[in-house]
Amino acid sequence: MGTKITKAVIPAAGLGTRFLPATKAMPKEMLPVVDKPAIQYVVEEAVAAGLHDVLMVTGRNKNSLENHFDRVTELEALLEQKGDRERLAKVNASTDLADMHYVRQGDPLGLGHAVLRAKMHVGNEPFAVLLGDDIIDSRDPLLDKMLFEQESRNTSVVALLEVDPSQIHLYGAAAIEVTDDPDVVRITGLVEKPSAADAPSNLAIIGRYVLRPEVFEVLEHTKPGKGNEIQLTDALQEMAVTPETTGGVYGVIFRGRRYDTGDRVDYIKAIVQLAVDRDDLRDQLRPWLREFAATLD
Ligand code: UTP
Repeated sequence: MGTKITKAVIPAAGLGTRFLPATKAMPKEMLPVVDKPAIQYVVEEAVAAGLHDVLMVTGRNKNSLENHFDRVTELEALLEQKGDRERLAKVNASTDLADMHYVRQGDPLGLGHAVLRAKMHVGNEPFAVLLGDDIIDSRDPLLDKMLFEQESRNTSVVALLEVDPSQIHLYGAAAIEVTDDPDVVRITGLVEKPSAADAPSNLAIIGRYVLRPEVFEVLEHTKPGKGNEIQLTDALQEMAVTPETTGGVYGVIFRGRRYDTGDRVDYIKAIVQLAVDRDDLRDQLRPWLREFAATLD
């Protein structure tokens, strides 16, 4: 599709309290999904969409995140010595993936605050935001379409997923107008984590955004909202209602597979769904899974 956007921002500074105690000394983005940490899937997705410049927003316990995308010379030498080319390639895959940059968030004051930390690095150009604990199945690409819509409409774009109304209180919800593309909507308003009764629709914002740089000016004056955190959704709400100055907001509706690895049940589902289709695991895993499922009520 060809896009000029090259920068991806990956916020990974949250406390991951839903995953305690696993996240006591390790970021949730490093939890393995089959045999790769969740964050590697996210960086791979950015690179597959042509975004080779990746800025990760990190917090406490950041070392393992940085180390994962850096060289580990002793291990490389050992595998080389053993002639274990297959494992060496796995080690090198994350090292050579992208042009990685890091910035600290300090206190985790909210997703909007984390994105604002990217201002210096991003400058005055559109950029993508990919949440570090949200995996989009690579068989169902989403970012290409979002980059295309951002460029052709000169707007900001969020990814939307249709969820059960009972789940909308976990997300930002969008009020929308349809466009002539069934997968694209114009967003007229956004509410962070509404009750089912207050939700303007059951279209939930998921962790992919392609934003115009005006978002930084908006975030600079965005007050803490839900949970006393500076919410990206609140900044996008302001942009949705000021299209003349900020370019407005559109949504791309995602109909594929997506896993919120910050949620325990979704994390387990991600591992099972990705593992059963892996060439190296399916023959062992599928028969066992069938047998095991038959023992459940
Ligand atoms: P979440 O709300 O899922 O992260 O934020 P959390 O606060 O770590 O989760 P729990 O509820 O305590 O388990 C979505 C994404 O935004 C990042 C998180 O790391 C995650 O990738 N984030 C959130 C930040 O980088 N900084 C923040 O201040 C908040």
